[in-house]
Amino acid sequence: MKTMARTFIKCFPLPWEEKIMAWLRNSRDQIKLLRAYFHDWHIYRTQSGLFREHAAGVLEAKIIRSYHRLEKGLALPQPRPGFGQDAVYTTLQGVEKYIERFGPNHTTARALHTLREFIDFNRTNGMDMAWLEQRLTSLAVHHPVEITEGGTRQVSREAIMAAAQKDLSAFFSSRFSVRQFSNEAVSDELIRHAVAMAQKSPSVCNRESGRVFVATTAARKAALLELQNGNRGFGDSADRILVITSHMDSFLTVGERYQCWIDGGLFAMSLIYAFHSLGVGSCCLNWSVEPPTDQAFKKISGIPVDHAIIMLLAIGHLPPNLLVAQSPRRPLSEVLRFI
Ligand SMILES: Cc1cc2nc3c(=O)[nH]c(=O)nc-3n(C[C@H](O)[C@H](O)[C@H](O)COP(=O)(O)O)c2cc1C
Repeated sequence: MKTMARTFIKCFPLPWEEKIMAWLRNSRDQIKLLRAYFHDWHIYRTQSGLFREHAAGVLEAKIIRSYHRLEKGLALPQPRPGFGQDAVYTTLQGVEKYIERFGPNHTTARALHTLREFIDFNRTNGMDMAWLEQRLTSLAVHHPVEITEGGTRQVSREAIMAAAQKDLSAFFSSRFSVRQFSNEAVSDELIRHAVAMAQKSPSVCNRESGRVFVATTAARKAALLELQNGNRGFGDSADRILVITSHMDSFLTVGERYQCWIDGGLFAMSLIYAFHSLGVGSCCLNWSVEPPTDQAFKKISGIPVDHAIIMLLAIGHLPPNLLVAQSPRRPLSEVLRFI
């Protein structure tokens, strides 16, 4: 009887009780918000490339950022001969430092290939490139395999249109968040295929921060789902649970403090469509959590602290028939404005 009365009071508080409760909730949320911002500041300060210039990933991101400036410059309608001297220096410095500390890799190779094209372009335009040629030759000895990536590429409108000009309305409108899956296993090969497709997503300076972690045991899958608040009733029936992250060492400035969410989000969307094209159903699972949950998740999953978790993705093959939520969309007029 007493418990019932207490429940009743809780459900129907007096006006002054309601006001006090609202004030308490508000104060609690203000403190939680401040704490979460402080945590985000701390993570960006310690895990991004802002103050970690010697970390391999950070150095790599810097090399990509500078050689990509040359790639972009070379791809302009009329590149100016001799453009981008500072980008040349930072690329060279970055490559030399990287090779010295970590050895050559695909990034240093692509940077050198871009510099090679930069030399050819400037030579054609009558500039003396002997000094750069010399430094390039000394760096090229570290890359015994012929380097072919980096720089520009000739493509034709015809080729692009032949590959891409398909009406994708049906493709887009037939993707639903899937919460009913068949028992068929999704192979590692299929996952590799989809992730490789998603890698073509655009990213800031092509730094590619997107990463995917795949839970490989039923126990780990269950442990991850336990910390996510939107998978009740279907998460465990998905064959695989993926965690999509953005590696924060790709981000180098204060201005880029939110870039991981943008690049990670674009990458996630591509992955979802890649799975859709391969006949695999998926459902995004939000990672809208406060710092303690994020920390606990990283601890049990082994996902390093310098990864921002974008979302989880439940994937599985489609059953022959399934029900999906309609999730109707806003009128186009509300979404699109010509200004
Ligand atoms: C970042 C993000 C997080 C989401 N989280 C959840 C979730 O936790 N649980 C769930 O059932 N659906 C989740 N969804 C799916 C949305 O409900 C769904 O995308 C939306 O209703 C549109 O429906 P559609 O995907 O079928 O077009 C999420 C979607 C996004 C983009």
